[in-house]
Amino acid sequence: MSNLFDLTGKTALVTGASGGLGRHFALTLARAGAHVAVAARREDKVAEIASEIAAGGGKALAVSLDVVNRESVADAFETIKQTAGGVDIVVNNAGVAARDSALDMSEETFDWVMETNLKGVWNVAQAAGRLMAANGNGGSIINIASILGIRVAKGVLPYAISKAGVAQMTKALAIEWARHKIRVNALAPGYFVTDINREFLASEAGQEIVARVPQRRTGDPVDLEGPLLLLASDAGAYMTGTVVPVDGGHVINSV
Ligand SMILES: NC(=O)c1ccc[n+]([C@@H]2O[C@H](COP(=O)([O-])OP(=O)(O)OC[C@H]3O[C@@H](n4cnc5c(N)ncnc54)[C@H](OP(=O)(O)O)[C@@H]3O)[C@@H](O)[C@H]2O)c1
Repeated sequence: MSNLFDLTGKTALVTGASGGLGRHFALTLARAGAHVAVAARREDKVAEIASEIAAGGGKALAVSLDVVNRESVADAFETIKQTAGGVDIVVNNAGVAARDSALDMSEETFDWVMETNLKGVWNVAQAAGRLMAANGNGGSIINIASILGIRVAKGVLPYAISKAGVAQMTKALAIEWARHKIRVNALAPGYFVTDINREFLASEAGQEIVARVPQRRTGDPVDLEGPLLLLASDAGAYMTGTVVPVDGGHVINSV
């Protein structure tokens, strides 16, 4: 039987790949055989990660990308087009978080989170969709949502709204782009320790949240590898418009 999860010959773009989950997604796709465009604003970090992939025998390209800036997004896709001809897999991962009460939250904070997490995902998805539709080969777009787009917690208002928007955007794009053979799905991770939440998860409030996860632990980036490869590869050929929680059961626990 052929390996349905094999990505040999495919080109992938991972946004926000300069650290955290994005770095792990880039390494995972490269190990599965994809040529990976490692993209984020910190050019030194993306260059390091691209070198790490190449040193391990994989194929990678470092790309400078600010998802908020549509010109930067267009430039990044142009670079990928020139280098690889097109893109087959896009992991729309770049994101930011802010913690404040709804009464104290500033307009700047609200706009920053929404611009990056919602409009940034749209900017990248539209550019990817246009390129995939023009090439006629279809593709797979994987948006990184969050269980906070499904359930909610105190102090994360714009983050929760932006991720609920990403889940709905995933479905809206999936129904429009199925005719172009483009699948659009989302992963909704629970809590994984990265720079985005390290401090919070070490606090008493953070530990209380982890205690409510049925599996009683935070996620390990390795836990996302299987779900990512399922959505990226032919193994998920009949999946589109789904939002897949990867959370140790957190989202189904109402206490
Ligand atoms: N960790 C979790 O528990 C968790 C749970 C659910 C969902 N998520 C989601 O997973 C994604 C990755 O988060 P993470 O935990 O890995 O956090 P992280 O370590 O803080 O990584 C965030 C990444 O996003 C990039 N980024 C931020 N703004 C950007 C912009 N304007 N343009 C391009 N890249 C930008 C950053 O790179 P540069 O600064 O170099 O641009 C960085 O590589 C986010 O969408 C997050 O909401 C995380």
